[in-house]
Amino acid sequence: MKILVLGSGAREHALVLALKSEDAGHELLAAPGNAGIARDAAIVAVDAVDPVSVTSYAIANNVDLVIIGPEAPLIAGVADSLRERGIPVFGPGRAAAQLEGSKAFAKRVMEAASVPTGRAAYGRTHADVAAALDEFGAPYVVKADGLAAGKGVIVTDDREAALAHADTYLPTGPVLVEEFLSGPEVSLFFLSDGDTVRALSPAQDFKRALDGDAGSNTGGMGAYSPLPWLSERFGSEEAFVAEVTETVALPVIRQLDKEGTPFIGLLYAGLILTDAGVRVIEFNARFGDPETQVVLPRLVTPLSRLLMAAANGTLEDEGQPEFSSDVAVTVVLASEGYPEAPVTGRALSGIASAGEVEGVHVAHAATAGTGDELTATGGRVLNVVAVGPDFRTARARAYDALGRIGLEGGHHRSDIAARVE
Ligand code: AMP
Ligand code: GLY
Repeated sequence: MKILVLGSGAREHALVLALKSEDAGHELLAAPGNAGIARDAAIVAVDAVDPVSVTSYAIANNVDLVIIGPEAPLIAGVADSLRERGIPVFGPGRAAAQLEGSKAFAKRVMEAASVPTGRAAYGRTHADVAAALDEFGAPYVVKADGLAAGKGVIVTDDREAALAHADTYLPTGPVLVEEFLSGPEVSLFFLSDGDTVRALSPAQDFKRALDGDAGSNTGGMGAYSPLPWLSERFGSEEAFVAEVTETVALPVIRQLDKEGTPFIGLLYAGLILTDAGVRVIEFNARFGDPETQVVLPRLVTPLSRLLMAAANGTLEDEGQPEFSSDVAVTVVLASEGYPEAPVTGRALSGIASAGEVEGVHVAHAATAGTGDELTATGGRVLNVVAVGPDFRTARARAYDALGRIGLEGGHHRSDIAARVE
């Protein structure tokens, strides 16, 4: 198949690597890509957030399947445009992508579908927000309504800080004040063809910048999959996945279908497992980053087959996706100053040597250059991904590989998946 992957991060590199590993002779194209993706796919001149650019390229070049990585092209209507022209695309249209684009939309859909989530109130003014904060009590959770690149949420015991956060976003629209939910977080991905869903293996993301979950919220500093502790709580991973499929994924997919905006793509359920049960904290309309980097290397079923079935509405004909019993750990290498003010343009070294560690590969997030002359071009620079028979082995491999990579001022967490060793 001729497959075009849109996006430029480690998630898209992971998608490209998974497609390449099928050994099916796919012709892999990517836009805009990065220096790592360029080694595994042909970079093509397409503006990934422009529906006309993507659609005309796909038609002119007989692309069989377009896979949309990030949210921006979804919100821009790239999937709608492709679908109108009959081109198979994995990614929801603009309307269904509001599940990620607007927290108010997501809350409304969850309410209509009776999906368990935190209680929430909308504040349109400073006084509204203050009243909602007092109603729910500390710790306070305040969220911007729209896409905010991971910066829209504050969780704090400091009422003044919660109010100040709300004041930053109030000029652009209402903010959400939510009840605080306590428990471990799980990212669970569902492939959806608008009607049928197929769950992938659960993963956990580390959102804070520093060890011990200290420091600022980031786009994600590492991840691991599967989550062995789910079995202690739910009997088995399968039981957990079945519960979330029945209580979260299917009700949401059916509700969106009923509203005439079917969700075709990746439904990412961000969950907190509270003592009172599973609660949705957020939905995303795309693969998670960095969780994808640990989920896909464990996927045994060919990815292209699953994504094509979702795009074509034939997921019901596919069995449950199969996963290897190996575990996977990824650790993100970030630039100095990330997330507040990343320093970019610095030279990278040792990536080839890192990739020589058994079970390890490197997914590029923000790199430019060719051959051994690579530079970091963003906050999250690359992901070291290690697969192994158990977490002790996978972690040792990941950190061995990371130690071989040079980036002045670069930083990473040292406790990814430590508690499951
Ligand atoms: P979100 O952008 O909605 O995923 O929120 C970012 C992070 O904030 C989540 O991964 C949680 O760690 C935290 N968070 C969001 N909502 C809540 C909540 N209601 N209670 C506790 N933590 C939350
Ligand atoms: N891992 C968090 C996200 O993809 O939004």
